[in-house]
Amino acid sequence: MSPPSVLARAPAKINLALHVGPVRGDGYHELATVYEAIDVYDEVRATPRNDPAVSVETVDPAGWPVVGVGADADHLAVRAAAALRRQCGVETGVHLHVRKDIPVAAGLAGGSADAAAALVACAALWGLGLDRPELLDVAAGLGSDVPFALVGGTAVGTGRGERVQPLPAAPATTWVLVTSTPGLSTPAVYARTDSMRAGHDLPAAGFDGETPAGDVLLADLLAAVRSGDADRIATGLHNDLQPAATRLRPGLADVRAAGRAAGALAGLVSGSGPSLLLLVRGDAHAAAVATAVTSAATGALAGVRVRTVHGTGTGAAVVDDPPARLGGG
Ligand code: C5P
Repeated sequence: MSPPSVLARAPAKINLALHVGPVRGDGYHELATVYEAIDVYDEVRATPRNDPAVSVETVDPAGWPVVGVGADADHLAVRAAAALRRQCGVETGVHLHVRKDIPVAAGLAGGSADAAAALVACAALWGLGLDRPELLDVAAGLGSDVPFALVGGTAVGTGRGERVQPLPAAPATTWVLVTSTPGLSTPAVYARTDSMRAGHDLPAAGFDGETPAGDVLLADLLAAVRSGDADRIATGLHNDLQPAATRLRPGLADVRAAGRAAGALAGLVSGSGPSLLLLVRGDAHAAAVATAVTSAATGALAGVRVRTVHGTGTGAAVVDDPPARLGGG
């Protein structure tokens, strides 16, 4: 009999607002952000091993190996399982099979989703019975976006992004998501933002890390999100990393312009990029915008994929296994 295994999934995130403060002593930047989970998920299947190792293989939805996710010890899913083993004194090993639908180094927190899904899958496999705060603590140690991948929905993020305050369910948003390759390095985009600010290429941080985020900076956007009014949301979108990401990948400016010309309500780089989000009114509008931007995007960027996504992503959770196939060897 094959050993029992647990399947979990976690969503990609976008940032409707990303205000970046000055760099802190620990190298991170203080953030005030509004996270939204979208309906693009990575899945992690955790299967016990009969030795104490933690191993991983990562494939795309067609089953092909994915490159650039980091081999074993560097893979965020492996780091998540290892952290949980240490924390809870688990001695058995585990094999993680990661099925990635979220592109790598795309500004969509795909690695964080893998970590969150691995935490949930392993906690269930090992019967750990951890409560949410305990899991969120382990998640925060793994990366700034991992707690949000556990929580999903829409949430305000502060600190370096790891302090997450969920917002009440809001009407769904619809986006045309333009992904491209190669990925951008998150540290490089933060560093370029700092150097552009230092060289007065960009205004100094408008956010000092002290202002209560929900009260001032994010108030208009949060009201717009609650209303579900796409035109209001469009005027509140903001990303302090966008100028640096666009400097590093100039084609992004062309695709934003093409999106606006095609009738998108707004265009925004997702996180540290290079994914680009075009806000639209719904699926029919998305289809028209997607058709119109595809040729501009393939002319300006490499490895382009254009798809419609929705702000309806749910936090990391165990999912029901597909029914076992009968028969076979
Ligand atoms: O937390 P995480 O490991 O995902 O962060 C990756 C990198 O992104 C950090 O090493 C840092 O360079 C940058 N970062 C930052 N400020 C944040 C979050 C991330 O400078 N709030």
